Amino acid sequence: MSLIEDRVADTDAPVLDILAARWSTRLYDETSPIDEDALASALEAARWAPSAFNLQPWRFVVARRGSATHEKVVATLVDFNKAWAAPAGALVVFVAQTEIDGKPVPTALYDLGQAAAHFTVQAHADGLYTHQMTGFDASALAAALGIESPFAPLTVMAVGDLGDVDAAPAAVRERELAPRTRRPVTESVLIDD
Ligand SMILES: Cc1cc2nc3c(=O)[nH]c(=O)nc-3n(C[C@H](O)[C@H](O)[C@H](O)COP(=O)(O)O)c2cc1C
Repeated sequence: MSLIEDRVADTDAPVLDILAARWSTRLYDETSPIDEDALASALEAARWAPSAFNLQPWRFVVARRGSATHEKVVATLVDFNKAWAAPAGALVVFVAQTEIDGKPVPTALYDLGQAAAHFTVQAHADGLYTHQMTGFDASALAAALGIESPFAPLTVMAVGDLGDVDAAPAAVRERELAPRTRRPVTESVLIDD
């Protein structure tokens, strides 16, 4: 069985193929440039995410491998993430806008998360692999990119072509091959009347 087949979620009810197949890989091909068409589609999918009052309290920073911005983003990742995420074709910073016209946006993080979810699903459908991270220094990244309140980086997403599992360091290979798990839906549904 190939790695891609092995990673497909073992679901208790049928879900869209693309949702079952998406996983957060730590294997990136450090030679292939980002597929620009697929990246544009993923950003477009994020653009069309729903948001409260259609406020769209999200911004994105696209940092292609080899660019000055990429270097800045990589410098703020925790060491473990740096090792596997830096080779990805691009790192995309997901930035929340927590205030609009002086008024707080209580759903900013929720809405940004939906945009990120749209991004991951579209990217996967187009052959790009994604992995979201909070393991980075958010204040250092904001300073490095000149992002100021009410904007704040919430996550960084590695995006790119899949690398070779056999070439990965042991710690990464082990995680990549570990079973994918979730608690049962019944443990997440508080009331099912
Ligand atoms: C908001 C967010 C932050 C995450 N931060 C990290 C991280 O810093 N490093 C990492 O290796 N994985 C990180 N992950 C990946 C999760 O560990 C992963 O999504 C989870 O284990 C489920 O695995 P799957 O996405 O392959 O289904 C993050 C995921 C999300 C959604």
